[in-house]
Amino acid sequence: MDALLINGPAKLKGEVKVAGSKNTALPLLFCALLFDEEVSYENVPRLWDIETTLGLLQSMGTESSWDKQAGTVRIFPRVRRREAPYEWVKKMRAGILALGPLLAKYGEAKVSLPGGCAIGARPVNFHLEALSKMGAEIRVEEGYIHARVVDRLRGTTYRFPQISVTGTENVLIAASFAQGSTTIENAAREPEVVALGKQLAAWGVPITGLGTSTIAVEGGRLKLPCAPVVIPPDRIEAGTWISAALATRSELTLTHTDATEMEAVLKVFRSMGAGIEVSADAKRIHVLPVEQYRAIDIETAPYPGFATDMQAQLLVNLCLANGKSRVKETIFENRFMHVAELRRLGAKIAIEGNNAIVEGPSRLLAAPMMATDLRASASLVIAGLCAHGTTKVSRIYHLDRGYQRLDEKLRHLGADVTRISE
Ligand code: EPU
Repeated sequence: MDALLINGPAKLKGEVKVAGSKNTALPLLFCALLFDEEVSYENVPRLWDIETTLGLLQSMGTESSWDKQAGTVRIFPRVRRREAPYEWVKKMRAGILALGPLLAKYGEAKVSLPGGCAIGARPVNFHLEALSKMGAEIRVEEGYIHARVVDRLRGTTYRFPQISVTGTENVLIAASFAQGSTTIENAAREPEVVALGKQLAAWGVPITGLGTSTIAVEGGRLKLPCAPVVIPPDRIEAGTWISAALATRSELTLTHTDATEMEAVLKVFRSMGAGIEVSADAKRIHVLPVEQYRAIDIETAPYPGFATDMQAQLLVNLCLANGKSRVKETIFENRFMHVAELRRLGAKIAIEGNNAIVEGPSRLLAAPMMATDLRASASLVIAGLCAHGTTKVSRIYHLDRGYQRLDEKLRHLGADVTRISE
């Protein structure tokens, strides 16, 4: 297993290109299951989760090619097995995104239950409830979801009891192939959902309400145009770079961004005192650190609120701020695994229920740390960059799942980071 050795404190300098969005690419790759013809993609990030998705799709019989340098993927969807087996879904929970397209297109699907993970129990009951309401017969047996529909899925109205990103995506995909119209209420408004909806619309599906809580989809009109699917920039990677720049008090320019999707994150960092300049076209973000940061009090929330996927990274920034900060995690019940690791560097963070109380500023000193999940890993790396001495971050396969060559990019920006296998 790989680990990173980070010699800190580091200073970053220069420009960093933000890769394509992982959480947008995943549902769009699963959409290939809806077609009989080749589907092609551009700006696909070079990540383990993409490798896993293509492996899972191949296990169903599809063929694919991936030019990792060019960032292009081609999928030839000749599905023979309508199944997402446990071996794949256990590697990546987003394997649940196979359910909507398989069921919609082939009338049946067998998909492993994703199970819990380091950040929480993460059930998929809303996905199943919505698809049942669209006419699917669903039973869960021996760890698998078995779904069937006689004829085709039917349009319906489904209100999500709680906002779910992949839940909304699964229903959106299924609805685009179903008979009649579907209304999704309390839908996720995340940019990843909007990008999926826009792509379905480009494939001929009439959709209204994207980016709002009520999405209406007219099913049954899907047709494949020849233009490739272009994956938009990863807003969480961009936010992670801002966090790293501010934590190391470095001046950094991010390119290939879409700052219009990052208002909550920019607002939080600015309220801490950071200088952040956005170009007129929102594609470049220039980060200007300051010596003193202010403590803040915030909570994570579905979009347009502050993303839970940025909470772990923000905690490192708050360790360096003056005074007491509070961060309430409202999306996942167990998303503070990084706190115990950060404490090993000298961070003063207490957990009270779903609140992290941070006392700053702390002088962080290097120590070995263990990554537990994707965003937690990013926060440990950022902490390692500010800590004095050599920090080892183990189990960085979590990082490789969702950040395109983070260590290479850090070296390019001047940080002393080495990848070792242990
Ligand atoms: N929930 C249910 N039942 C469901 C679905 C969700 O109770 O059927 C609950 C969850 O347990 C959670 C909340 O609803 O408490 C929200 O979960 P959601 O379904 O929105 O999460 P997700 O779709 O599984 C996606 C991202 C996550 C991101 C969350 C929240 C992908 C592939 N994953 O997960 O990204 O944290 O939305 O924004 O899009 C990451 O990239 O590191 C990551 C974890």
